[in-house]
Amino acid sequence: MIFLKTDEEIELLRESNLLLGKTLAEVAKVIAPGVTTGQLDKLADEYIRDNGGIPSCKGFEGYPASICTSVNEQVVHGIPSDNTVLRDGDIVSVDLCVLKNGFHADSAYTFPVGEVSAEVMSLLRTTKAALYEGISQAVAGKRLGDIGYAVQSYCESRHYSVVREFVGHGIGRSMHEEPEVCNYGRRGNGIVLKSGMTLAIEPMICLGRRNIVLEDDGWTARTVDRKPAAHYELSVAVRPGKADILSTFEYIEQVLGERFI
Ligand code: MF3
Ligand code: CO
Repeated sequence: MIFLKTDEEIELLRESNLLLGKTLAEVAKVIAPGVTTGQLDKLADEYIRDNGGIPSCKGFEGYPASICTSVNEQVVHGIPSDNTVLRDGDIVSVDLCVLKNGFHADSAYTFPVGEVSAEVMSLLRTTKAALYEGISQAVAGKRLGDIGYAVQSYCESRHYSVVREFVGHGIGRSMHEEPEVCNYGRRGNGIVLKSGMTLAIEPMICLGRRNIVLEDDGWTARTVDRKPAAHYELSVAVRPGKADILSTFEYIEQVLGERFI
């Protein structure tokens, strides 16, 4: 069952998402070599609660932290730890959900740590651009497969690979609602998108092969070939003509300044 949101509900979703966008900017302020992912988790948790939200990843199906921090070959759902120190040249994907006024926001951003190789910077740029390619298809009258096709063709034509095991999703009063939003697909396939659908679109893109394995912690997904992967995510409302992006990377990118990818 796909829940179409009213205009009022979409404004509540926007409020949750803007808090999430600002939380990611707070995280961006401190990301540097020597910082631990445990510190990022604590900072995000406090910022969200101070601003009237709940970090809704915490406790979700037993997940132990408030954010996910996935370093280098880790694709998604890396667990923050005081023992995981970020180093110059790393990338770290920060993925989190915020619940406010009964609505969940979900967003992710992959940050460079210090000086990152040109090859990996281009993975980040491509993954972020692929997210916007997907968003450009989240328009009433298009089909779900158009989103996946846009992401996949953009990345594969540039010789990156697309993770299949994790997908985007509807979002609203639940963190994960129908439909599943694959990052691969065929143009013209799948359900017709309707105004008022709200979708979290989240390409996970690899520098090497797309195959992943789960670490022994039962959460962290990493690439089999241990090459890096990137992950960007925004929630959008499907609208006629143009998607309404409910969050923004602007706050983050103001903080990153010239480190902006
Ligand atoms: N933010 C993730 C998503 O995109 C959800 C993570 S749930 C957690 O669906 F439990 F792993 F945190
Ligand atoms: Co998501």
